[in-house]
Amino acid sequence: MEKEKINAEPAKDAEDSPAPGSASSASSAFQKIDGATVRADFNAINTVLHYTRAAHFVGLWKSELAMITRHLPDRNARLLEAGCGAGRVAVGLWHQGYRHLTGFDFASELVEQARNLAQEQGITGLTFLQADATRLAECHLLSDMSFDGVLFLFNGLMQIPGRENRRAALRGLHRLCKPGGVFLFTTHDRDDPKDTKEWAKEAALWARGEQNPRLVEFGDRYFTDDNGNTFMHLPDRPEVLADLAATGWTYVESATRNELASETPKVRNFSDNCTFWVARR
Ligand SMILES: C[S@@+](CC[C@H](N)C(=O)[O-])C[C@H]1O[C@@H](n2cnc3c(N)ncnc32)[C@H](O)[C@@H]1O
Repeated sequence: MEKEKINAEPAKDAEDSPAPGSASSASSAFQKIDGATVRADFNAINTVLHYTRAAHFVGLWKSELAMITRHLPDRNARLLEAGCGAGRVAVGLWHQGYRHLTGFDFASELVEQARNLAQEQGITGLTFLQADATRLAECHLLSDMSFDGVLFLFNGLMQIPGRENRRAALRGLHRLCKPGGVFLFTTHDRDDPKDTKEWAKEAALWARGEQNPRLVEFGDRYFTDDNGNTFMHLPDRPEVLADLAATGWTYVESATRNELASETPKVRNFSDNCTFWVARR
C-alpha cells in the first residue's frame, strides 16, 4: 500500500518505542508528534525501502514535470528540493536536463539512498545534504546559496507537525529563494468532498477532546501501514493561503494532480491525488 493512503491503522510507535527523555511507554503514548518522531519514522527500514523503490522505479510524475517546466522552464535554473527523500524528483529532473540541483532531507538514511542512486547512474554535480527544513539558518552549506526555484513535493511540507514549524520552513525557504523565484509544493486537501463525513466525525472528536492525544492540530493524521508510520497534516485552502502570505510568499496558482496529467497506474498506486501550489518570492 502506498505511504499516504490515509485510512490505515492509527500509528503504534508510541507503545513500541518511547521517545527519548520520556519516563515510560505509557507517558509517550500521550506525547505529541514532533519533528523527531517524523524523522525517526522516515529513517525506519520499511519507509526507507519504500522511498528508495519509488526513486528507482516510480520516478518523476507527469504532473510534477508539467508544473516544473511551466514555472521553471530554464534548464540552467538553480533548484533546491526540500524533503528530497531517496532522490526520486531530483534524479528525475536531472534526466530532464536540469543541471543545478541541490536536494536536502532531515532523514540521513534517505539522503544516503539519494546519493547512492545518483552515483549508480553516473550523475555528477547533484548535491544531497542533510538538513531540517524548520532550521535552515543552521545549515551553513545552504546559508550562502540562493535559488531560482524551491520545491517541496509529495506533500513533504505537510509532514512537519505544528503550523508554526511549517511557517518556519516556509520562511527559511523564502530566504533561500531569489527575488521573483518560484516555490512549488503539494498538499492533500482537507476540503476534498469524498472525505467530508470523515472530517465531520474527526471535528466532533476534537470538540469533545477525544482525538488521538498525539495529534498536534485539527487536520493531522498519524497512521501505520506496510510502509511504516506516517504523519500528515491536511490543510484547507484558507490555511495554505494564509501561511504563504504570513511568510512572504505571493500566491500564483494551484491545480490538482488529476487536472494536470493522467498519471500512469504505477504513480497512482504509489500516491493519491494532491494539490500543486505555486508561489513567488
Ligand atoms: C513524502 S516524503 C517525499 C520524498 C521524496 N521527495 C519523494 O517524493 O519520493 C517527504 C520527505 O520530506 C522529508 N521531511 C519531512 N520533514 C522534513 C524536515 N523538517 N526537514 C527536511 N526534510 C523533511 C522526509 O524525510 C521525507 O523524505
